Amino acid sequence: MTAKAVRLDKLLANLGYGSRREIQGLARAGAIRLDGAELDDAGARIALDPDLPERLTIDGAPLDPLPGLCLMLHKPLGVTCSHKEAGPLVYGLLPERWRRRDPPLSTVGRLDKETSGLLLLTDDGALLHRIISPKAHVAKRYRVTLDRPLTGSEAAVFASGTLLLEGEERPLLPVELEAEDAIHCAVTLTEGRYHQVRRMFAAVGNHVTALHRDRVGGLALPADLAAGAYRVMTAEDVAAVFAGG
Ligand code: URA
Repeated sequence: MTAKAVRLDKLLANLGYGSRREIQGLARAGAIRLDGAELDDAGARIALDPDLPERLTIDGAPLDPLPGLCLMLHKPLGVTCSHKEAGPLVYGLLPERWRRRDPPLSTVGRLDKETSGLLLLTDDGALLHRIISPKAHVAKRYRVTLDRPLTGSEAAVFASGTLLLEGEERPLLPVELEAEDAIHCAVTLTEGRYHQVRRMFAAVGNHVTALHRDRVGGLALPADLAAGAYRVMTAEDVAAVFAGG
């Protein structure tokens, strides 16, 4: 299959390198090279081969990842996924230029400001919907620290499929709880309702003091991905998300 071709100025403008006019300036200044040779025509059509980022350099640096980008980020505490919440945004943890990409990078669902762990971001809207769609049943696992000891009845209540959160009319789908010790457990859920884990424990009279997501589908947060760091996902990583847990 031949790769789709796009104009160089459009490709670079959509990756956030500047306006098409600015890209023309870069090309004329000899800042853009393909396979080592200067590309001075900003209107040249370039095939979007997967290895293009290694072959095309801007000011000597490899081109940013092509559209179709999927990232895993170890979200630290204190950063937000939404402009609606106060505080620094997760997008601030990414290279500055990536905030000007079109299509833009979006978080795949959200984690609360005070939740840490595995957060995916992508510019691929179809992939995003495939992951968050309830039909996909992508399970998310959270490690929970509680204020008070587990009573022993929580696992059955969460698994029942009848638990109603305050202010809601539709019960939660079954959630699996694995106790680790008196105040630590893991919960695995397939929905993503607002503050779901915190509200589930509030519904059984407890309080979540720390929350960390360590798994999305079959993809685990890598042990060597530090809080605040991110990694470009491979096709295998994306497949792992859908591979169950
Ligand atoms: N449940 C919560 O309460 N918070 C999150 O960030 C994710 C799930």
